[in-house]
Amino acid sequence: EAGLLIPSSPSSSVSVILTQDDLKKIAAYKAVEYVESGMVLGLGTGSTAKHAVDRIAELLRQGKLKNIVGIPTSMKTHEQAVSLGIPLSDLDSHPVIDLAIDGADEVDPYLNLVKGRGGSLLREKMVESVCKKFVVIVDESKLVNYLGGSGLAMPVEIIRFCWKFTAVRLQKLFQESGCVAKLRTFGEKEEPFVTDNGNYIVDLYFEKSIGDLKVASDAILHIAGVVEHGMFLDMATTVIVAGELGLTVKNK
Ligand code: 5RP
Repeated sequence: EAGLLIPSSPSSSVSVILTQDDLKKIAAYKAVEYVESGMVLGLGTGSTAKHAVDRIAELLRQGKLKNIVGIPTSMKTHEQAVSLGIPLSDLDSHPVIDLAIDGADEVDPYLNLVKGRGGSLLREKMVESVCKKFVVIVDESKLVNYLGGSGLAMPVEIIRFCWKFTAVRLQKLFQESGCVAKLRTFGEKEEPFVTDNGNYIVDLYFEKSIGDLKVASDAILHIAGVVEHGMFLDMATTVIVAGELGLTVKNK
């Protein structure tokens, strides 16, 4: 990870090196300042959200936060929260969430997101679409001019049945954007990655912009076999970006 030299204080000649993970932690800790006792919290997934969950647990242990209920967005976050003693529930019991904190893979200038490179996009979208406030935490490498613009994957969760057929339909849908659809795999044997919901993920790579995001979203969801996609449009209420020049808080 590239290091970043930051003076430890304005008058100091001593510098500390901040890694990308430090930046993620700084953004996460800032987001946890939005948490109040008694809240129902959506707990995100990924290396940035993990810092937020750690911090919430720390404040609970210290008695600075009380009566928190967490709704985890993945099995991994569920396990982390259980190991830290955070009280948990689910959407059946808590259909409205006060605040969700989660990372993202891409953030565009309008605070639209790509999520799901960690594979948890479906549960994340279920939780984050019913929260009053959705605070997104990223380091500045996640900022893009348009979604798909990082050249990295835009994930789509699909059912396993005839997955190649669905992948081909997705690729054809974005032919004009130079789309390539790839089944997500893991390990040396390249076994299909299976989500917490028992589905596969097809990652879409684009050469060019996909144009109107709402149109693209509707078209993807219209394909039978698609469960959900990783575009989170008009959902983030706040994005906290940790970067070379410090923290930036962008509000919708
Ligand atoms: C998981 C996600 C993550 O929030 C996203 O991939 C960002 O991860 P990280 O904080 O590790 O960079 O959407 O499905």
